[in-house]
Formats: sequence, C-alpha cells, structure tokens
Amino acid sequence: MNNFITLKLKITLVLVICVLSTFAQQKDVAYAIIPQPVKLVPVAGSFKWTTATKLVLAANSESLSPAFKELKATFTGLKEGKAEVNTVTLILDPSIANEGYQLSVEKKAVVIKAASVQGAFWAITSLKQLAGTKIFRRKVVLRKSALDAITIPCVKIEDAPRFSWRGIHLDVSRHFFDLAYLRTMIDRMSYYKFNKFHLHLTDDQGWRIEIKKYPELTSKGAWREMNGQDSSCIALAKTNPDYAIPEKHFKMIDGKRMYGGFYTQDEMRGLIAYADSKGIEIIPEIDMPGHMMAATNLMPWLTSHGKGGQAKDFSEPLCPCKETTFEFAENVFTEIAELFPSKYIHLGADEVEKSSWKNVPECDALMKKEGLKSVDELQSYFVRRMERFFNSKGKKLIGWDEILDGGVSPTATMMYWRTWIPTAPKHAAEKGNDLIMTPGEFCYFDAQQDGGTLKKVYSFDPYKFNLNESEKKFVIGVQANIWTEYIPSERRLEYMVFPRMLAMSEVAWYKGGVDWGNFEQRVQKHFSLLDAMNINYRLPDLEGFTTQSVFVNKGVLHINKPLAGLTIRYTTDGTLPTIQSKIFQSDLTVTKPVQFKVAAFRPNGNRGDVYIINYEQQSYMKPAQLSSPKKGLKFSYYPHFYKTVNAIDEKDLASESISKAIEIPVEKTAGSFATRHKGYFYAEETGIYSFALRSDDGSVLKLGDKVFIDSDGMHTSIEKSAQIALEKGYHPFELMFLEGGGGYMLKLQYKTPSGKLKDVDASVFFH
Ligand code: ACM
Repeated sequence: MNNFITLKLKITLVLVICVLSTFAQQKDVAYAIIPQPVKLVPVAGSFKWTTATKLVLAANSESLSPAFKELKATFTGLKEGKAEVNTVTLILDPSIANEGYQLSVEKKAVVIKAASVQGAFWAITSLKQLAGTKIFRRKVVLRKSALDAITIPCVKIEDAPRFSWRGIHLDVSRHFFDLAYLRTMIDRMSYYKFNKFHLHLTDDQGWRIEIKKYPELTSKGAWREMNGQDSSCIALAKTNPDYAIPEKHFKMIDGKRMYGGFYTQDEMRGLIAYADSKGIEIIPEIDMPGHMMAATNLMPWLTSHGKGGQAKDFSEPLCPCKETTFEFAENVFTEIAELFPSKYIHLGADEVEKSSWKNVPECDALMKKEGLKSVDELQSYFVRRMERFFNSKGKKLIGWDEILDGGVSPTATMMYWRTWIPTAPKHAAEKGNDLIMTPGEFCYFDAQQDGGTLKKVYSFDPYKFNLNESEKKFVIGVQANIWTEYIPSERRLEYMVFPRMLAMSEVAWYKGGVDWGNFEQRVQKHFSLLDAMNINYRLPDLEGFTTQSVFVNKGVLHINKPLAGLTIRYTTDGTLPTIQSKIFQSDLTVTKPVQFKVAAFRPNGNRGDVYIINYEQQSYMKPAQLSSPKKGLKFSYYPHFYKTVNAIDEKDLASESISKAIEIPVEKTAGSFATRHKGYFYAEETGIYSFALRSDDGSVLKLGDKVFIDSDGMHTSIEKSAQIALEKGYHPFELMFLEGGGGYMLKLQYKTPSGKLKDVDASVFFH
C-alpha cells in the first residue's frame, strides 16, 4: 500500500516536473510563434536551409500536395529530392486531429506530419515564422553557403486549433479594396492561422459583386459620388495622409468622377482559389433585408414604399411582403451559391428599419395570413424563407444576432455582435444555434485604439457570455470585424488591424489559456516580421507624459524609454515629425508655452501615432474655503440615453446619493444612463497634478470652473489625460459620464506633484 502510494507520488512528481518544464519551455519567447502552439519543446541547435536542401513528399502523402506547393513557393529555390539528410519532408498522418500538425525541426531534417492539407498549411506557417524575416526577401532567399542559410531553431511542436472558425471580416462596400490587396490580406491571415474570410460584399454605400442577372448592381451600384463619410476621410487626410481615398478607385462615368469598384465573378473565382491555396475559405455576405440602398436606389420597387434612400434610423429595407423581393433575393443568391464553394452564406439581417413595414397593406395581409404578430416576426419570416432557399442550394445560413428577433430556426448560425444584448448568445445556444462570437467590444477593429486595446482584445473570452458547459459547445469560433466607413486606404486598414489581429489569432487558435506578458513579448518580436511584410501596423504607445501639460515656472517633458527598435522624434514648429526630425534623447526643459509633436519611428521609417503635447503656463488655482467639508461626492443618476453629457436633462434625474469616490452606487443600472459626481477634490500639496480619465462611453471632467478633460460622445474605452496647477486645499470637482449601452467603464487616476499615478479614492473627495 505504502509502496503503491510512494510509486504514485513519484509518478505524479515526475509528471508535474515534465509538465512544468514543458510549460516553461513552451513559453520560451525565442520561439516567437503567434498564435502560440499547444505544445512546443525547444531542442538545441538549428536546421540550416540552403539550396542543397531537398523537399520530399512522403509515399502515400499525395493529398498534401497543395501544401507541398506552398512550401516550394515560400522557400524559393528548393529542389525536390529523396536525400535522407538536409530534407524537409511532408507526411500524411491520419491519426492527427483535423487542422492539427506535428512539426519536428532537427539539425539534419525537418518533418511535417498532418492529416489534412490545412494542418500541413498551419505547420508551414509555424515554420515560416521560425524562419524569420529572410523568407520575405524573395528570390535571394536561399544561398549555397550554410553560413547564409535560413536558420530554423530546432524544435518539436504538436499543435491543433481551439476553434474551427477563425475569421476576419472585411467590409468592402463602405470603402473598396481591390483584388490585389485582398490577396495580400489573405497572405497575412494565413500567416496567423485564420481560416475564414468573411466578405461583406454589399451595403448602402456600394454593391461589389457582379450578379449577371442584374448588371446594373455593379455598373451603377458599385460607384458613388463622395458621401458624408468620404468627406470626413478627406478632411482627416489633411493631417493624416492614410485617410486619403486612393486615386486608383476613381473613374469617369457619364462625365462624373465616380468612386468605387467591384469584383467580376471570374475575378472572385480567382480570389477563392487563391484563398484556398492558403488554407482559407471565403464566406460571402449579401446583407438583406436592410443595408440594401445600393440596390434599392436602382430598384425602388423592392421596398415597401417604392423608394430607396434613408428611412428613420437605417435605410429603407427590402419589403418581405412582396413576392418580387423573394424573386430578386433568390436570383441573387442562386448566383452567389454557385460562385462560392463555402457551405455558408451570410444573409446579414442586421439593423433593419422594420418600422418601414408598418401600415403597409401587403404586410398587413401577410401577417394576417401567416399569423405573424409583429414586424420582428416579419423579419423572421424573411430570414426563415431565405434559409429554406439556402438549404435548397446545399448551403447553411449565417446571420447577425438580429436573426434571433422574432424567432429563428435552430439550423441557422448566429454571429454575435451586439454586446448590449448580453443574453443573445445564451438564447441562441439554448435553441441549438451555432455561434460565432464577434462582440463589438473586443472584435470590432474599426474602433479606435489606445494603449489598452491590444490587451483588451487578448483578454477576449468567447465563452464569457453566461454560457454553461453544454451551451459552450455551440461556439464554433471567433472573428474580428473590420467596418470601413472611416478606413479608406490599405495603409489605414493595416493600422487598424495590426497588431490586434495577432491577439485575435491567439484567442482563436490557442487553447492553453492566456499569458499576457509572454504574448506581449512575442508581439514585440513580430514587429520585425511585420516590417518585413511592409505592414503599416500601429506602434506601441509612448508613455510617461501628459498631452495637456502645464507649468508654473518651468516644466520638464519626460518620455519613458520606448521599446528597443524605436526612436522618438519631435517637432515644435507645428509640422508632423518625420524620420528627419530631431531625436528625443532625454528630458527637455520647458520655460514658455510650447507645442511638441512627438512620434516613435521604426528603422524602416514606419511612424507611430503622433502625440501633440501642449505646455500651458498656469498659476496655481486658489482653493475654495469650506467650513465643514463632509466625505464623499454628490452622485446623480439619469437612466436615460444621451449622445453627449451636455445633453443630460435634470428632468431625467432618478436618484441622488453620496458616493465615496468614483463609483456608480446604483443597484441595477439601465442599459443606457448618465451620471454626475459633484463636490470637491482635495489637493494635499501645492503643485502640478495629472489626471487620467478612462471611459466607455463619454465623460467630461471639470476642476474649478473649467473643463479640463473632455472625452465626450460615444466611444469604446479610451483614456485621456491632462494636468492642472493646484494650490493646496479643496477644488470644485465635477465628473459627468454617459453609457450608451453595452457595458460601461469609468476610471479616474491621478498623480500628485510628488507621487505616483494612483486610483482616486475616498480620501480625496468631499462635498
Ligand atoms: C453590424 O455591426 N451592423 C453587424
């Protein structure tokens, strides 16, 4: 008995040690693979890839030949052969999980084993990442000399994905991206093991796919004059050229300069084949019945009121009560189903102006006939009928989470996006619908970024939406969505997508849990790979300063040392910093009001965000005289929707109380609400105070009688900071905040003249 226990203990200890050492090894950032492989064991030494290296497709492994082709294309100059040393061999191994692979790199040979072409692709992707930047220098990749070889560190990897759906969505309607760029995007997706490319092909702003039955959809519907969003981009391009709309997408039509573009069916077939050769499936979305203005402007009879254009909140939708609508939709989807081999078609079905179907005789009649009680059920009628049509073509329907409204069939797949409806995934899973998780808070890559964004995406837990164990199995994957209203160019797109796409790839692929510190280090190693791929990624934030800085006699501009490989440059003459601007070597003394424009640069000239740092001269603000200050702030709660805090209306006030600090002391907040914290901030010493305010959505902070941090409006979680010169004592304080819906964040930190940044707490607030 004792012996048995001892033996068991020993075995357990050995196992624990093995697990721990594997764990430690696989966290070795020398092998900076993203997404992290499930199991990675480093081995000493390296494989030298030279022109003498032979590529071998093992016997009975012909089904992997597309991957073999990819390997040859990547490492140009390779020869096929049979030699036993200095080989890279692909072996079919049906015992490995679908999409999984094993990769063994030894000094004398590389062996890839996979059960499917896709698995072999992902092995090649890992191999490419291990090979570093050299593979991007086409044609000069391989040399004879082992000294100049591509060096791959020896390693043993066993890997398989967490989710079968690892998607990137791209809206090519709001702004057009050409085929050449879509191919580039596919390369990048493949490099990070994404396998689904969801193309949002139609929307109000443009129809992008040829439909032979309706040639006008593209001859006219793919082209537009500048709209409001385009004009905003043109205005933004004055200070950031990445917002300029590319000249290549303009064309003269009937004497007018029109903007747009589309893909012919032949071109799309070429793109589908290219994506397939990189392990990626393209899923088409034709968004119906809403978001259809590009079509309804040309065919207004498809709507309930016989007119296209804008309705109340969204555009006029197709009318689900007319047979002509179904004739049109079925004709379109017949061609789409033939063109795209994917088993999925995305019907959209989001943001439909259903009020347009009210008091319409055809709709009243249909509702009566079908026993439908609401316009939600009319939408559901449309979706279910389209689903039956998709099924008749051998396809499955995907829709945005609005397909739940009014009831959905359990065979549809729901793409979850509306974070402010947190119950939607659970409701769908309860009914047995597959789920693709794309909640806006984490997955909308059109949202502006700040220093916290990458970590936020990395923290995305696709199961954390009240799903129990049996409901979790309906989550088939995750996806990042890129809506392009304000993304007109390839450079801007890349800035919005990278590096957060790397975080999403790890969420999608790696089932081993999160380790932010380790991931962050691997991302830093990937910057040189992103440079080699010529990607205009967003550089890490510069820190240590406040953009609204003040001084009384003299100030000091300090910027924390940036990551290795980044140089900080600045100007004071109003121009944007360039790679020729002065280098920020060490702290700068400020004695008069000045504006710095500061940015980090990669050696290749890639510039990070430009920070505008204003130094204002102030005298210390006089404190208020309070006779008997009491602890806490006066808190007011307004359970109402506002777009800006200035719109807060006292008649909506629902409750007042005292809060200790910046808290929201309300038992249950409304989905949309606003708050006010009012009282005094106690400055414990005379000097310059820095405040950092993070909010989602808008907030405005006043000290004394002035607004000194303005972060108003609807936005994701962003931080703004400012300084103020305060004399010791009590200063009038007011913080207004609004939440539009979808989960809120409100956090205020401050730094005393001699202290560190800390969260505000009960010790500094009075009323
Ligand atoms: C969406 O963002 N309208 C799906």
